[in-house]
Amino acid sequence: MSGLQYGNKVILAPMVRIGTLPTRLLALDYGADIVYGEELIDHRMLQCKRLENKVLKTVDFVLPDGRCVFRTCDLEKDRVVFQMGTADPERAVKTAHLVEKDVAGIDVNMGCPKKFSLDGGMGAALLSQPEKVYQILSSLVKAVSKPVTCKIRILPTIEETVSLAKMIESTGVKALAVHGRLQTERPFHSVHTDFIKAVAQSVSIPVIANGGSGDWIKTYEDIEKYKIETGTASVMIARAAEWNPSIFRKEGLLPVDDVAKAYIKYAVRYCSHSINAKYCLAQIMRECLESTKGRQLLSATSLRQICAVWGMEDSYDLNEDEVSKREEEIGVDREGTPLRSSAKRRRIEAEENEYGVWELPVMYNKKEYRSKETPKGTINNRAMLRKIGKLTYETTTRQSDRHFKTVLTINGEKYSSSLWSKSKKLAEQSAALAYLQMTKMLENSAANDK
Ligand code: FNR
Repeated sequence: MSGLQYGNKVILAPMVRIGTLPTRLLALDYGADIVYGEELIDHRMLQCKRLENKVLKTVDFVLPDGRCVFRTCDLEKDRVVFQMGTADPERAVKTAHLVEKDVAGIDVNMGCPKKFSLDGGMGAALLSQPEKVYQILSSLVKAVSKPVTCKIRILPTIEETVSLAKMIESTGVKALAVHGRLQTERPFHSVHTDFIKAVAQSVSIPVIANGGSGDWIKTYEDIEKYKIETGTASVMIARAAEWNPSIFRKEGLLPVDDVAKAYIKYAVRYCSHSINAKYCLAQIMRECLESTKGRQLLSATSLRQICAVWGMEDSYDLNEDEVSKREEEIGVDREGTPLRSSAKRRRIEAEENEYGVWELPVMYNKKEYRSKETPKGTINNRAMLRKIGKLTYETTTRQSDRHFKTVLTINGEKYSSSLWSKSKKLAEQSAALAYLQMTKMLENSAANDK
């Protein structure tokens, strides 16, 4: 089979929320050879319809409620790999059939250690079920016209890892990505390059080394060093590209401000969801979120406001004019809804995460509330006036950097900021702020519907 080749490549790793179309196109512009999309779960994909979006000139996979979960376009068609989360060969094949003509390859995530994946028998749960792995991959290889790959984490010993890799090779996959950490290890643990090397020496398909951001990969030159250290055919980069997608540039890293502007151009062109754009930009700006631009970004609530942080409102307005013109000409809106009914469309800007928590990327900024009521204060007052029911705040700590995230539960509904805060107090205020902004958006959206 011709098509995508995996040897001697530098690859953008799959990353939930980060690996959407603007990041992928940016990575390709900077020099990535192959780009993986974020992991999408088979159940969710199988609810989607494929839609040729004539307004944006993209192909969209859209849920019954109108939300687009995967958007792709011709610019990446021969270099984008669709990664799925699955625990079932039949669903995996159906999902692959849904997307295969719009992507260059199909990948299965066998490394995700999150509870949500493990509970569904997906991700790293598959590492202890070699028969299931064999069934899923061999079914895909037989049924799908595009190359199939998978991405694993290592097992407790080199022998077990090599044996798993050999079994995976026997399914006919075209390449194997190895994240050199155990299921129980976190990004701050050192990556086990010796395990990756042993796998690369034991199979004949290209092995793609992953796990090098942080310890190993800080500049473009480091990519080659990591490849040599692991003895692999190719290298896949996640966090270093999340922080600065220009890591793929042979000429070296660009300043984050330039990268942010380049990102925004694509976000505007492809009408990204403001929440997704803000999340990705917050990672790019992570070292300067305290700066004026950083603070403006965190308080922006629309794509236009995000553009304004970099003085790019004109590009936004120009694009809006063009998109509106195309909507009128074609008779459908940018989400594929006929114009007659699009006025009814609800634009709720929050996303529900896998734990049923509604999240917005907002950060409480003390300075803004010096002379006004804090978000928690506002909510407490509402509770005292019995405008809302029982509320609780529950905070988790991320041990790697002692950052905090709070989930605010009101009447059984859960709300949080998708960003981590430096203290528990700030995390609680951010969760309260997320709730207030979401209720305001819902009210605005309901008012627009009338
Ligand atoms: C990830 N990772 C990941 N892996 C995967 O197979 N599918 C996915 O959707 C995601 N999502 C994801 C999101 C974010 C924000 C991060 C940081 C990571 C894991 C990722 O692909 C990679 O295996 C690890 O991050 C290790 O590589 P680096 O970061 O050291 O280059």
